[in-house]
Amino acid sequence: MALAPTVKLNDGNEIPQFGLGTWPMKDDQIADVIPQAAEQGYRLIDTAVNYGNEVGVGRGIRAAGIPREELFVTTKVPGRHHGYDATKRSLEESLERMQLDYVDLYLIHWPNPKEDKYVATWRAFVDLQKEGKVRSIGVSNFKAAHLDRLRDETGVLPSVNQIQLYPSVSQIDASAYNEQLGIAVESWSPLGRGANAKYYGGDESYLDIPLLREVAAKYGKTTGQIVLRWHVQQGLIPLPKSSNVERLTANIAVFDFSLEDSDMQRISSLDDGRAEVANSDERQEF
Ligand SMILES: NC(=O)c1ccc[n+]([C@@H]2O[C@H](COP(=O)([O-])OP(=O)(O)OC[C@H]3O[C@@H](n4cnc5c(N)ncnc54)[C@H](OP(=O)(O)O)[C@@H]3O)[C@@H](O)[C@H]2O)c1
Repeated sequence: MALAPTVKLNDGNEIPQFGLGTWPMKDDQIADVIPQAAEQGYRLIDTAVNYGNEVGVGRGIRAAGIPREELFVTTKVPGRHHGYDATKRSLEESLERMQLDYVDLYLIHWPNPKEDKYVATWRAFVDLQKEGKVRSIGVSNFKAAHLDRLRDETGVLPSVNQIQLYPSVSQIDASAYNEQLGIAVESWSPLGRGANAKYYGGDESYLDIPLLREVAAKYGKTTGQIVLRWHVQQGLIPLPKSSNVERLTANIAVFDFSLEDSDMQRISSLDDGRAEVANSDERQEF
């Protein structure tokens, strides 16, 4: 079992370039899945207050028996806890639920710009990092204008931005802007929600798209592995969720082959403007 390579963040910390998504698993399920995933080489675990599974994540971590410093645990503050004091309380509650002393990465889950509290939330993040309760700080679903405000008003840029990203939502401009600012990009729904999602309302699941099947046949890989390789080959950090041990195992086995440039481009051509893209100027989450 080989571990995924790591990526250096702008604060000097290292993050594994592959993670385990935990939504929508509930406590009992995720507590079982984490030890299985750890056995397959997963070291990054992505949870959030709003997934309602931090207790199970903590149980899974203890059951996995991996030394704490070898794991990379992420959680996220929900919209209802935005604001300086509420954010600090929220982190304490997350640590308590997971029975951890610190998290490796703390994210603002959504900017909720109409509430206009994400800058105050960010100031709490900066202090939590200084206090050692979180090792790295970042955001999720932040657009360029939201990032600019953090930089202009606090002087501190996030280390990570976790955004919706898969071949049909390739986020070329957003990725380029994050890269320009030195912010690492994590991909949520990296498999376009996988076999359970129907492709544009048809009968076919996303991972059965003929183009993906064709590329998969060429490399002797599954369509899921092709899509996940497309992420890592761009320097992105995908966070696929699976509760199935065969898919968990296959998904992370993407560091021993590469896609030709022409195939990378063919996969990117799936971004034809038809997929629904989450708009964080409008969509607020609490
Ligand atoms: N920051 C945010 O706002 C945000 C939003 C959404 C999600 N996230 C994070 O991103 C993670 C992943 O996103 P997601 O769960 O929406 O989507 P995803 O990882 O793209 O897809 C997960 C779905 O695909 C299936 N699947 C996994 N591997 C597969 C494979 N190799 N072949 C076929 N199907 C496969 C899974 O089912 P099985 O379990 O049965 O394998 C599950 O139904 C979440 O768990 C969460 O941690 C963050």
